[in-house]
Amino acid sequence: MRLQDKVALITGGASGIGKAATELFLEQGARVVIADYNQEQGEQLISALEHHQANVVFCRTDVSKADQAKAAVAFTIEQYGRLDILINNAGITRDAMFTKMTEEQFDEVLDINVKGLFHMTQAALPYLIKQGAGKIINTSSVSGVYGNVGQTNYAASKAAVIGMTKSWAKELGRKGIQVNAVAPGFTATPMVAKMPDNILDQMKSIVSLKRLAEPRDIANAYLFLASDEADYVHGHVLHVDGGIMM
Ligand code: CAA
Ligand code: NAI
Repeated sequence: MRLQDKVALITGGASGIGKAATELFLEQGARVVIADYNQEQGEQLISALEHHQANVVFCRTDVSKADQAKAAVAFTIEQYGRLDILINNAGITRDAMFTKMTEEQFDEVLDINVKGLFHMTQAALPYLIKQGAGKIINTSSVSGVYGNVGQTNYAASKAAVIGMTKSWAKELGRKGIQVNAVAPGFTATPMVAKMPDNILDQMKSIVSLKRLAEPRDIANAYLFLASDEADYVHGHVLHVDGGIMM
């Protein structure tokens, strides 16, 4: 039980990587709040989590809205009395070649993938600072590190996640708050299922391990960073990408 009695708030915790993290964190003894804007999927997940239902709650949240981010954090404190781990995992794609990308597609991705982290973390910090402890884990991407065709908006957002992670690590370390990021490679989730088959095959072929990540491969990295084992890991971007580029 690597997270016994810890309280974790997982954004985007109803699907894909966030869902795997919800399941893994519960198995490891945590109490979990799923903050996701897909209520139906969140409630379905909780009803499938037969043995853990006492330790998990859903909070309908659009992370791009400051008031909803604040409400999700307040709900967590109301339910469990504290917050130990914030996983800023919610994210979206709106892929298009740059010549065709609309301002709306650009803004939508930045609003959720960047401002979502801004709102959630700002809402959580008063509690974490008061506790003098807490772990923040942000989700970047290979696209934010290396760029990707058709993903100007998304790559910009995921590079911003790295900049925010390092800035927060520098500001918050002295307050006992650890901040790290995970940069996943292509992972078998609904997000990747939307990619054209030929492009996905091309991506798989450049991964050294010659397979997509499973959602649990990424959730395991969240678990490590959230656990006491990572108590001296700070301002780090953990690449979990099967060796897509080295
Ligand atoms: N590498 C090289 N060339 C590429 C390419 C690639 N990855 N993708 C597209 N191209 C080329 C095409 O072959 C095509 O070339 P020609 O003009 O010579 O025929 C040209 O670029 C235009 O491509 P499309 O015909 O596909 O253009 P489109 O406007 O119909 O669609 C697109 C563009 C929406 C970006 C589509 O190509 C697409 O969905 N690509 C996948 C983008 C991607 O990798 N998304 C990752 C989603 S998963 C995720 O984001 C998780 C994560 O963090 C990694
Ligand atoms: P997914 O699409 O399966 O799940 C994303 C979840 O986030 C969904 O439950 C969705 O409802 C929720 N969400 C989206 N916008 C939201 C908002 N505004 N407020 C609250 N919840 C919201 O995606 P996946 O693949 O699990 O992605 C999780 C994270 O990992 C994202 O940040 C993504 O960018 C990142 N990532 C994914 C990779 C992949 O290959 N699947 C690779 C690298 C990074």
